[in-house]
Order: sequence, then C-alpha cells, then structure tokens
Amino acid sequence: MLRIEGLSAGYSSKPVLNGVSINVEAGQFVAIVGPNGAGKTTLFKTISGILRPSAGRITFGDIDLLAVPPARRPHLGIAHVPEGRQVFPSLTVMENLEMGAMTEAGQRGWKQNIERIFEWLPVLAERRGQFAGTLSGGQQQMLAIGRGLASSPKLLMLDEPSMGLAPSTADFIFEQLIQIRRQSGLTILLVEQRVAEALETADHGYVLEAGRVVLEGNNETLRADDRVRKAYLGM
Ligand SMILES: Nc1ncnc2c1ncn2[C@@H]1O[C@H](COP(=O)(O)OP(=O)(O)OP(=O)(O)O)[C@@H](O)[C@H]1O
Ligand SMILES: [Mg+2]
Repeated sequence: MLRIEGLSAGYSSKPVLNGVSINVEAGQFVAIVGPNGAGKTTLFKTISGILRPSAGRITFGDIDLLAVPPARRPHLGIAHVPEGRQVFPSLTVMENLEMGAMTEAGQRGWKQNIERIFEWLPVLAERRGQFAGTLSGGQQQMLAIGRGLASSPKLLMLDEPSMGLAPSTADFIFEQLIQIRRQSGLTILLVEQRVAEALETADHGYVLEAGRVVLEGNNETLRADDRVRKAYLGM
C-alpha cells in the first residue's frame, strides 16, 4: 500500500534521512521505533508532504505520492496524527472531529465514523462539547486519533501517541489501536519511542537510527533480536 524507496530528506543543509526504504502492506500494523532525533517525525513529514525529500520515491497504492500536492494527500486516504497531538484548542471536541472529516470520504462516512469513534474512544462522546484546550493530555491524544479517523483514512499514521502520557493511559491507547485495526481493517503506521509496547502492538517493525533503517522484521523477530533487547528493551 505504502512503499518508500531510498528516501533522503532533511532541513536546509542538514540531512536527516539517508536512503530509507519501508514497505507497508494493506491491513498491516507497522511500527517504526528509534531514539530521539533518529528522523521518525521527519519521515512522517515527508509522507504527508510538509517536507520535500531530496531523493527517493513514495508510492501509495499506484500513485506517485510525491507528485500529489500535500493538501490533496488526506483525500487519498492518508491521515497523519502529528507528534504533540496539535488539536485545535479553542474548538470543541466535536468541532475538532468535524475538521478531520473535511475529506470527501470523511464527509460521506461522517455518521458511521462518528459512531465508531465514540465506541473506540468513549471519552470523546462524554466531552463532545468541551474545548479541546481544556482536555487532559491523554484525552487530547484520543481526540487527535479520532480526528484522524474522521477523515475515513486507508492509512492512519501516528507519531508517538504515547508521548508524555502515564503508562496506563498509553496502554489504553495501544489497546484501542489494536481494537480499531481489528474492527476496521485499517492500515496503521506507528512511530514510537516506547519500543516494547510498539513491538507488542504492531505486527512488523523497523528500527530507525540516525536516519537509516538498521533492522527490520516481524514483531517476534525484533523482540528476540539481541541488539533490540540491549538497546531498547533493557535486557
Ligand atoms: N524544523 C527543523 N529544522 C532543523 N532541524 C530539524 C527540524 N526538525 C527536526 N530537525 C532535526 O532533525 C533530526 C531528526 O528529527 P526528528 O524530529 O525527525 O526526530 P524523531 O526521530 O522524531 O525524534 P523524537 O523521538 O525526539 O521525536 C534531529 O536532529 C532534529 O534536531
Ligand atoms: Mg519525533
């Protein structure tokens, strides 16, 4: 579904990604893990189009994604739940969800989507009239995920949904992602620093270090890998 080949990108003269290749099949749950500054957010920015790569290809289905203007990419079915949530603080929960539903598919599927979003993330139903800026961090993260889902995506990209959250809240979010994937068949691409949880949640993983993919495999292979165990799992 999403094929990234030899991608290089960075900021002005600072190269960050260096020949990254990643493949996500339809229906797969793929995690990209790696330390601070590895380039995980940079990778997501090139997929959603905030950043133009200096080399490489990205195809989404049969479409050459780099030829699609960034503003059109959500309409193809790519939802980017950004690092740090970035909900609209002065809009209500419901209005934030409506902003997510601006895509054609999101408009058509609104009624059904909102029902399912409220089922998966019930706190959003309870707080639908509350201003997003007054939600807790965990609630804002759930809203950011709900807003992504409201666009009726084919691919849901999540940039560190657990960031700054209590372990129990992060665990709830990971569990709901598994549930969402199971019930919707959605393809999910997750970036995480919580490596143990991410590799438990996803079925395939990539380890990104200093802008390069250094390891790849299914979750069991990665969790059993000595380098992963030492560097990321504290074993
Ligand atoms: N707007 C920017 N301008 C210049 N350099 C940047 C910019 N954004 C990120 N960088 C640099 O690019 C590198 C990769 O950053 P990136 O945000 O992609 O890392 P990350 O893997 O997402 O890290 P984290 O886990 O901390 O979120 C870092 O060295 C960072 O300082
Ligand atoms: Mg990041």
